[in-house]
Amino acid sequence: MQLTPAAALRRRHFLLVGAACVAGGFTTHANAAVANIATGAEGLAVRLRSAPARVHMVGDAEPATAVWAYNGVAPGPALRLRQGTPFRAAVENGLSEATTVHWHGIRLPNSMDGIPGLTQPTIPPGGRFDYAFIPPDAGTFWYHSHDDSLVQMGRGLAGALIVEEAEPPAVDRDLLWTIQDWRLEPDAQIAPGFHNPMEAAMNGRVGNTVTINGLLPTAVSVRAGERVRLRLLNATIARIMDLRFEGHRPVIVALDGQPCDPHEPADGRMLLAPAMRADIMLDMQGEPGRSYRVMDEFYDGLSYSLVSLSYDAAPALRPHPLDAGLRLPPNPLPRPDLARAVVQEVRIQGGMMGAGGLGGMMGASMMGMGGGANWAINGQSMTGDGTAGMPPLLRIDRGRSCILNLHNETAWWHPMHLHGHSFHVLSRNGQPVPHDVWGDTVLVRPREQVRVAFVADNPGDWMLHCHVMEHQVGGLMTVLHVA
Ligand code: C2O
Ligand code: CU
Ligand code: CU
Repeated sequence: MQLTPAAALRRRHFLLVGAACVAGGFTTHANAAVANIATGAEGLAVRLRSAPARVHMVGDAEPATAVWAYNGVAPGPALRLRQGTPFRAAVENGLSEATTVHWHGIRLPNSMDGIPGLTQPTIPPGGRFDYAFIPPDAGTFWYHSHDDSLVQMGRGLAGALIVEEAEPPAVDRDLLWTIQDWRLEPDAQIAPGFHNPMEAAMNGRVGNTVTINGLLPTAVSVRAGERVRLRLLNATIARIMDLRFEGHRPVIVALDGQPCDPHEPADGRMLLAPAMRADIMLDMQGEPGRSYRVMDEFYDGLSYSLVSLSYDAAPALRPHPLDAGLRLPPNPLPRPDLARAVVQEVRIQGGMMGAGGLGGMMGASMMGMGGGANWAINGQSMTGDGTAGMPPLLRIDRGRSCILNLHNETAWWHPMHLHGHSFHVLSRNGQPVPHDVWGDTVLVRPREQVRVAFVADNPGDWMLHCHVMEHQVGGLMTVLHVA
């Protein structure tokens, strides 16, 4: 049965259901939109123009959705280049408001980080800014607007940036799922009401329509016996996902672009919060002709089938899983010296006091910080998207190892993101985290304490913030200064 958006909206949790089965993985509109100037050993040079556009995300039978897009597509074009080769992007602003582009997870020079007021002047309507850097790490990264981010990302301004290993692992296919979440009205248009104060003090703006590579997904065709490297990118502004692959055993080989010890996730579930990426290896060991659902079961009582893996009838490509190593080559990341590290306490504060969801709102008290700030770090609320002149909360000497002790004193989940560095995830509530996990974003559960460590080897002013966009713009943000 195909639900129209109108019908879907009547459901408590409405994920629109499309009709088309997309063959051979998802066709991304995006690839057509890459305006490559040069690519290859010389690197990649692109032109990215942010501007309003109309895209068919919920099926051709429904009206096109007005979005804000890079090069006419949402998500923006998936950019790919080789590790250690130069990247250049000429960003032109065709919006009626200022913008910047942030290259999330890339360890780049501070002046290329895309933070308005802090690392560059914002790009005015009609303006242009040229970004250039050499990505040191291979992996799955992404780019997104960092000005009026809640609205600009919520309207579509985000895309994948894939840095390929010199020698990629042996797989049959390398697939990318750029996941976005939209709140659509029955006419398939994006609902107004960004910056809703109630949502801002709770989970943030979780939408009603989840797309993969810009399309409402139903099925992805797979072949029995093949090994797929699946790059998952949660490019949503608020939706935390907990993915379960029915009948399959995904193996995580990288998180946030950084290789880890290959391991199956606990309970087979892939917890993926906003801004996080996971590279998983999927051996297609299902039966030819059968279909297996990929469920998202994060929110209580609101689980749904995101997409299904649909096996074609062809016999298995090989009798046993591919006999090739799963471990990715290491990136050139410095290991922090924990014995000599400076320890910084980062207290995450604010929000509604109870996690009772909508029902718990009555009688709940909110932090009275005023000025629209619902959230704080160590008692200070830095709001917006980046701030000129705000004194950095944290200062670290260049080259020092640093431990961030993240205390979540709230009743809410926070994917905490650090710019310009990748950190080693050490422990959760004092329990060591196994599998040598690194990342640029770590999901901190309600009341949880997470320790991460990194070498502060990249000079400049770096944002540290929650990647639920309402939380960031509502004060869950600070600046770390490396001098
Ligand atoms: Cu992807 Cu400051 O963020
Ligand atoms: Cu970032
Ligand atoms: Cu948060």
